[in-house]
Amino acid sequence: MSILITNIKELLQVRETNVTIVKGKDMKVLPTLKNAYLLVEHDTIVEFGSMEDIDGIEADETIDATGKIVLPTWCDSHTHIAYAGDRTQEFVDRINGLSYEAIAQRGGGILNSAEKLQNSSEDELYEQAAKRLTEVIKMGTGVIEIKSGYGLTVDAELKMLRVIKRLKHDFPIEIKSTLLAAHAIPKTYKDNKKGFIDLVVNDMIPKVANSHLAEFIDVFCEKGYFDLEDTERILEAAKAHRLIPKIHVNQFNAFGGVALAVKHDALSVDHLEEMNPDDIAALQNSKTMPVALPSCSYFLSIPYTPGRDIIDAGLPLALATDYNPGSTPSGNMNFVVATACIKMKLTPEEAINAATINGAYALGVSNRYGSICRGKKASFMITKAIPSYAYLPYAFGDNLIETVVINGQVF
Ligand code: NIG
Ligand code: FE
Repeated sequence: MSILITNIKELLQVRETNVTIVKGKDMKVLPTLKNAYLLVEHDTIVEFGSMEDIDGIEADETIDATGKIVLPTWCDSHTHIAYAGDRTQEFVDRINGLSYEAIAQRGGGILNSAEKLQNSSEDELYEQAAKRLTEVIKMGTGVIEIKSGYGLTVDAELKMLRVIKRLKHDFPIEIKSTLLAAHAIPKTYKDNKKGFIDLVVNDMIPKVANSHLAEFIDVFCEKGYFDLEDTERILEAAKAHRLIPKIHVNQFNAFGGVALAVKHDALSVDHLEEMNPDDIAALQNSKTMPVALPSCSYFLSIPYTPGRDIIDAGLPLALATDYNPGSTPSGNMNFVVATACIKMKLTPEEAINAATINGAYALGVSNRYGSICRGKKASFMITKAIPSYAYLPYAFGDNLIETVVINGQVF
């Protein structure tokens, strides 16, 4: 089966060579081809070029993209979509003056979601997560990471991870799963944090790793949750089981989590709303991708990640949604890209690079996804007819994605 997309107004993120990360000033450059065609065979991009050179190129199916823009699907490297129910009441409580922290302290927040998850069947959880996943794919997400973390018991964490495994099996997009065992201290370990970390290290990590239910390890490294010492203990244990770190750091407080994650070869450090010069310095010459989650900042009214400073320091930056019931009940990468431009002052080129090629890096899939490159997977989207690619973040509330192709199949 082959598909030929013709008359593309502008084909974005075309990379001749297999560039896997874009940093600093290079993030301002988004390589494009105007008046282009794109040829797909089975699940792979085999050719692209100017419409002037299309003679002799044929396919089983042709899609005319006159006036439309084609770009790689979004790579959402940070989500928690396998959750149960919602936290609408906490949202209303916050509007009425309670803080996110105060809600967590009274036993709400993550513990509220954990109770809901523990009381849900695996099928119920699957149905809810599958619905969310379907919606985000329609909005252009083509690779996604999904975390556990609302289980907080061995059984419930395994249940979440099995749901993610089922999604991997049933959906055409690539899904990466992360064990976020240390997301909060469960009520039963309220005065025994060490006991809970023992459980994570001695029981959860080995069980999850031995059953191949996750390839990444995450920790909520934050005041009132897990400190540097706790995080390090978990990362050491995870390393012995070959789980690669992707860590929640610097959401509310900066106290050295970034440097610790870099020391443990983290693939990414995520959130970064609070950043010290030391954190930026720690990322220099590292292989760790900083990831900003602007729709979390939007929803909680907390500072935005200083993406401008990060990029201006010569570093790369990726963008992801953080889709979860408490801090970001949205998985819309188009909104993330727009908000990065509007609130973090990224240029459209920087934001699109951050949400595609650098997102692919933060997912560990940049050899297959994140750019329009011969030999890479044919996962891309076709917009409605729009004046330019800057119109995508400009018209921030519109749904401008018309067709999503995942691994060579129209979704
Ligand atoms: O990334 N910060 C930690 N975890 C999630 C939110 C957890 C929740 O409120 O349910 C986040 O924002
Ligand atoms: Fe998160």
